[in-house]
Amino acid sequence: MSELTGKTALITGSTSGIGRATARSLAARGASVVVTGRNAARGAEVVARIEADGGTARFIAADLTDQEDVARLAREAGDVDILVNNAAGASFGLSADITTEQYDAMLDGNVRAVYALTAALAPRMAERGSGSVINVSSGAAVMGDVYNAVYAATKGAVNALTRSWAAEYGPSGVRVNSVAPGPVYTSAPVEYLDLYIPLIPLRRVARPQDVSEVIAFLAGPGGSYVNGAVIPVDGGLTAVEPPKSPAAAA
Ligand SMILES: NC(=O)c1ccc[n+]([C@@H]2O[C@H](COP(=O)([O-])OP(=O)(O)OC[C@H]3O[C@@H](n4cnc5c(N)ncnc54)[C@H](OP(=O)(O)O)[C@@H]3O)[C@@H](O)[C@H]2O)c1
Repeated sequence: MSELTGKTALITGSTSGIGRATARSLAARGASVVVTGRNAARGAEVVARIEADGGTARFIAADLTDQEDVARLAREAGDVDILVNNAAGASFGLSADITTEQYDAMLDGNVRAVYALTAALAPRMAERGSGSVINVSSGAAVMGDVYNAVYAATKGAVNALTRSWAAEYGPSGVRVNSVAPGPVYTSAPVEYLDLYIPLIPLRRVARPQDVSEVIAFLAGPGGSYVNGAVIPVDGGLTAVEPPKSPAAAA
């Protein structure tokens, strides 16, 4: 028996990056994993990898900007004990240049889908008396920057939802938390991510596993008294002042 044996985990955006690493981390701890995303070929690869490692997984295709798809995903996933709201989209640009379509896609995928999936699945966890919802936020929620006003706003919303849901579902034994990564080697260009290295006290960009291990901790018995937390997983980036000189950043 592993610590998540008998649990079902739904991880959105698990066809790549942090979500894929999380699916593998939770499956390795014994959870039966529901992999989801739009790309069925990558979804099948993740399922095959988990099964090759001795785990259990299945794939459900869904576009989280589509309300019908989100509702169908919640139905087809069935009873879920661990919900990881990880998927997000990002269009970066000056605020005057962001189109209505880009704005809607970020709000719909990053906030409305998180809200709808949680509203569909958390009450069923509450009826069973236990469960864990983990939202993947971002350091962008607490650090202003040009080019990412809308994306940052969606992550601020995720943090606010996390705290509200901790109050709403906590009394029924359902814990709700967020992890807030800094830069992680996933789909963004390495050259862009590496610009952060001098600003990160640990002087390295995260690997997806650095984040998935924290999510797995929150999902498991070790996180049993953590509720309503937004946990930075950013090597200290949002905790400290940036270095005052190039020498200090070395
Ligand atoms: N990487 C970073 O530096 C970083 C930093 C801070 C926070 N984060 C957060 O971490 C989370 C994961 O990011 P990542 O970098 O691992 O992402 P990623 O590698 O780019 O993967 C994004 C995942 O989300 C899915 N996805 C995107 N839009 C979707 C949609 N409309 N419907 C369904 N699935 C969708 C993609 O699946 P399909 O392509 O199959 O649809 C994919 O599995 C996000 O919430 C992101 O905001 C990342």
